[in-house]
Amino acid sequence: MADTKITSPHSQPHCVRIWDLPTRLFHWLLAASVIALVVTAKMGGNAMNWHLQLGHLVLALLIFRLLWGLVGGRWSRFASFLHSPAAMLRYLRGQTRSSDDAGHNPLGALSVFAMLAVLLAQVVSGLLSDDEIAFSGPLTRFVSGDSVAQATSYHASWGQYLLYTLVGLHLLALVVYALRGKRLVAAMITGDKQLQQAQPASRDDARTRLLALVLALVSGAAAWWIQQLGGAF
Ligand code: HEM
Repeated sequence: MADTKITSPHSQPHCVRIWDLPTRLFHWLLAASVIALVVTAKMGGNAMNWHLQLGHLVLALLIFRLLWGLVGGRWSRFASFLHSPAAMLRYLRGQTRSSDDAGHNPLGALSVFAMLAVLLAQVVSGLLSDDEIAFSGPLTRFVSGDSVAQATSYHASWGQYLLYTLVGLHLLALVVYALRGKRLVAAMITGDKQLQQAQPASRDDARTRLLALVLALVSGAAAWWIQQLGGAF
C-alpha cells in the first residue's frame, strides 16, 4: 500500500502522522485488555468467565496486529522496524539516525517484538490450560495431558512473570524517554510526532481504516472460531 507524504521541508519541526488510527486503537485496547486479564485472573471465581472472554479478545487483537504489520501504515509495518543487529549496536553506541525517532527505534522495536511474542505465547498457553476445577481452554482436547499440564504451568508462572517484566520495562522506557524530552505517549494518542527532519508519513485515511475494519472482523471471526472449537465435539 502506498504511503503519503504530508511533511513539508520548510516547517520546523515536522509534524508527521506516525501511528495510524488502527494501530492506536489496537494499542489502547490491548493495554486495557491485559490489565483486565490480570485483574480477573487475580479475582478468580466467576471473574474467570471474563478472563476467558478477554483472552479471546487479545487473541483477535494479536491476529489483527500480525496482519496490520504486513499491510498497515508505513511505520506500523514490521518491515519498518525489523532492524539488523548492526543497527541495534549503532543505536546503542549513541549513533542515532533521524529515522530512529519516527517509528519504533531499534531498541523499542526489539521490545515490541518481544512483547507481541510473549503475549502470543500467553494466549496460546491459555487456550491449552486447564485448572482441573471449572475452567479449561478450548484447545485442551486436541493435545496430551502432559502438554496441557506444561501449558497450564507456563501460563500461570513463567508466562505471566515474563509479561509483567516486559510491560514494566515498556513503562520504564517511556518514563526515561519522557525525561529526555521525547513525548512518545502523546504520539500514541494523537498519532503525530514532531520530528526534526522530514520523514514519510503513515497513510491513515478512510480507505486504510476501512481495510483495518475488515481485517479486525476477520481477526475477530478467527478468534471466535478457535473459541468454538472447545465445544465442537
Ligand atoms: C499492559 C499494558 C501495555 C501493553 C501490553 C503495551 C504494549 C505495547 C505494544 C505491543 C506496543 C507496540 C505498538 C505497535 O507497534 O503495535 C506498544 C507501544 C507503545 N506503548 Fe504500550 N503497552 C502497554 C501499556 C502502555 C501504557 C500504559 C502506555 C502509556 C502510558 C503505553 C505507551 C506506548 C507508547 C508511547 C508506544 C510507542 C512506543 C514507541 O514509540 O516505540 N503503553 N505498547
